[in-house]
Amino acid sequence: MHLDNENDSEDIEVRLLLEAIFLKYGSDFRSYSRLSVKRQILKMVKDQNLGNISELQHKMIWDELFFKSILPKFSINVTEHFRDPSFYKAFRNDVVPFLRTYPSLKIWHAGCATGEEVYSMAILLEEENLYEKTQIYATDINIKALEIAKGGKYLSRNLSTCSENYLKSGGKKSFSEYISVQDMDFIMDKKLKKNILFIDHNLAVDETFVEAHVILCRNVLIYFNEVLTRRVIKLFYDSLQKHGFLCMGLRESIMRSANKEHFKYLNRDGKIYRKVPSESFNRMVK
Ligand SMILES: C[S@@+](CC[C@H](N)C(=O)[O-])C[C@H]1O[C@@H](n2cnc3c(N)ncnc32)[C@H](O)[C@@H]1O
Repeated sequence: MHLDNENDSEDIEVRLLLEAIFLKYGSDFRSYSRLSVKRQILKMVKDQNLGNISELQHKMIWDELFFKSILPKFSINVTEHFRDPSFYKAFRNDVVPFLRTYPSLKIWHAGCATGEEVYSMAILLEEENLYEKTQIYATDINIKALEIAKGGKYLSRNLSTCSENYLKSGGKKSFSEYISVQDMDFIMDKKLKKNILFIDHNLAVDETFVEAHVILCRNVLIYFNEVLTRRVIKLFYDSLQKHGFLCMGLRESIMRSANKEHFKYLNRDGKIYRKVPSESFNRMVK
C-alpha cells in the first residue's frame, strides 16, 4: 500500500515517535487518543523550531535531558477550582449523604493535574464536616503538575473565576476564607493540605493502590483510546469499595464502554456513577 498524502506520513511519524519513546524510556503514550497526541507533538515541533516530527524524534532519543524537559508537554493540565460547579452541587446533594454514614473515607483523584480539583473537594468536605475523617490520594503522571499541586499556590488573577465557581457549586462561605493572598499569587490554607497525599501514578501501567469510597477521574479519559479506557475503568472497579462512587468529567461517559454494566448512574447530569458489585467481577473485559 502506498500512502502519499502528507497527513498519512505525519501519522506514521507520530506512531514511530511514540514507539521510540516507549522503547527508549518506557513512557507509553501509544494508547492515547491519536488526535490529541498528534496536536501536542506538532506544537512541540513548532515550539522547538524543528522541521518535522522525525527531527523531534532524533532529539528526544539522543538527548535524555531534552526528553525529560519536554515529557510534561504530553499531558494537558487544563483545570480550575470548582470546574463545572454543577458537578460539585450534585456531589453535595447526592453523594455526601452516603459519605456521612461511613466511619472513615478514602477519596482518590486520578489525573489531579495542578491540584485545583483536589482543594475544591477538600473545601466541600470541610464544609460538610467530613474532611477530618477523610484521606485524599491525588495522583498524576506529570511530576511538574504534582509539584504545583503540593505547593497549592495559584495565580491571583484567576481568583474571581474561583469565587464565582465556588458560589455556583453551593459553597457555604466565601472562597477567600480558604486562601491567603501574596502579591500575584494565592495560597491554599494549610488546613486543607493536612489529609492530602500527592503521588506519582500512571493510569496506563500502574496497579491499584487503594480501596476508595470515591474515585474522581475527570477530563482524563478523553485523552485515551478505547483499549486504555477499558483498562482504566477496570482499575477503578478494582479500586472501589462495594457500592463506591465514580465521578467522571461532564463530557465523558463510561456507558459506551464494554464494562458499563458494572456501574450505574447515581446522577446522570453530574456524571456520577455507583459501582455494581458483581459475581462476574473477574469476567470484566480487560
Ligand atoms: C485536563 S487534566 C484534568 C484535571 C482535573 N481532573 C480536572 O478535571 O480539572 C488531565 C490530567 O490527566 C493527567 N494524565 C494524563 N495521562 C495520565 C496517566 N496515564 N496517568 C495519570 N494521569 C494522567 C494529565 O497529566 C493531566 O494532569
